[in-house]
Amino acid sequence: MLRAVRGTRDLLPPDTDLWNRVEAKVRDVFARYNYHEIRTPVFEDTQLFSRSVGEETDIVSKEMFTWDDRARAQSEKPQSLTLRPENTAGVVRAYIEHGLFKTGTLQKLYYIGPQFRRERPQKGRYRQFYQIGTEMLGPSSAGSESPARDAEILEMLATLLDELGLRGWQLQLNSVGCADDRARYNKALREALQPVVHQMCADCQRRAETNPLRVLDCKVPEDQPIIEKLPKISEYLDEPCREHFAAVRAMLDAVGVPYSINERMVRGLDYYTRTTFEFTHGGLGAQSAVLGGGRYDGLSESLEGPKAPGIGFAIGEDRLILALQAEGEQATQNLQAYVAPLGAGMNPQALKLARELRRAGITADLGDEGFRLKKSFELAEKAGAKYIVLVGENEVASGQFAVKDLSSGEQVSVARDGLVSHLRK
Ligand code: HAM
Repeated sequence: MLRAVRGTRDLLPPDTDLWNRVEAKVRDVFARYNYHEIRTPVFEDTQLFSRSVGEETDIVSKEMFTWDDRARAQSEKPQSLTLRPENTAGVVRAYIEHGLFKTGTLQKLYYIGPQFRRERPQKGRYRQFYQIGTEMLGPSSAGSESPARDAEILEMLATLLDELGLRGWQLQLNSVGCADDRARYNKALREALQPVVHQMCADCQRRAETNPLRVLDCKVPEDQPIIEKLPKISEYLDEPCREHFAAVRAMLDAVGVPYSINERMVRGLDYYTRTTFEFTHGGLGAQSAVLGGGRYDGLSESLEGPKAPGIGFAIGEDRLILALQAEGEQATQNLQAYVAPLGAGMNPQALKLARELRRAGITADLGDEGFRLKKSFELAEKAGAKYIVLVGENEVASGQFAVKDLSSGEQVSVARDGLVSHLRK
């Protein structure tokens, strides 16, 4: 038997009803904050990711689904393509390609869609997973660099999670400074690592050379005591970065969004500057980050675009659903009526009645004249219908329909023009 590929999965009803409820809420909240949807391709030129996410990151060095796409002509070299492991790079590429900066305003964009990383699958970690994300970017003159943008996004996330009904979330916040700060911090890390790095894992030994900041991402238990003693990023922030971070925190305090500072959180992508953050949830086990994001003030320039400071995040939708389910959230069943034709020749009448109900906004399922009464009742109950409406010759002739409440067992006779309001109860 053919099965779904390792790390991929089918999303089935009733779970998909919960996914759709989440996505509807997300679109509603994003619209209130004046975000608009962008859809970028699922695959891109490989270089887009190596130049933005960074060659040395786990994502680019180990996890991408990359292939050489056949050349069209013999003289052409094949093109290296990659299934997108994340969506920020694609959005910034589109921003540059379509000259969105020419408007001189902030671009506030959101996306919902699949991403691909060849990670070891486990609960909350898949090779095809779904992200819900936003990106806000634009010229500095439009306010893109202001700490108000960072605070506004974090406040939006708190509102979104609250409105989704998620309770146990925690916001972890850090600042990784600007490029100069990180150069100084990397130098300090290199120096601090030099005498101890030989005791660390192979990945850390490599990272200590190429990109020491990534050492802070290490999850190997034996390395943790060494990492705890390394210099802290906050000691290397210059004055403007320090002030920017203080302003973000002051605004979060002003609106009452709780957070904690986590100086080890450097995030697994190289484009970040200044504010970085993650929202975690206790119900998720090892993969506890429901979402992550941060500022990327130099990303547009590194992709040959104009200066366009920006900030964004991506929610792992799979994990958000798991977190909601861990709190007892279930997809709501909302089948209001099961329309059951009674006897030969009643299918057209039943379809006619179901059509009237559905056009009036009632959620209705339709049986078949071939079913006996007992079977119609069984199917209506299995489908989770609130009411069953019987459509027999007598009912059609008199315009009075037998309607039974399947949970209370109460049966009443309802006139055709009173059905919609009765079924809404
Ligand atoms: P990220 O931290 O790599 O950031 O991913 C964001 C979220 O996607 C994670 O917190 C997690 O919930 C989810 N996620 C990542 N990998 C997997 C996986 N294999 N299976 C299930 N869920 C996963 C980014 O992708 C950045 N583009 C976010 C961003 C937007 N930063 C600025 N703008």
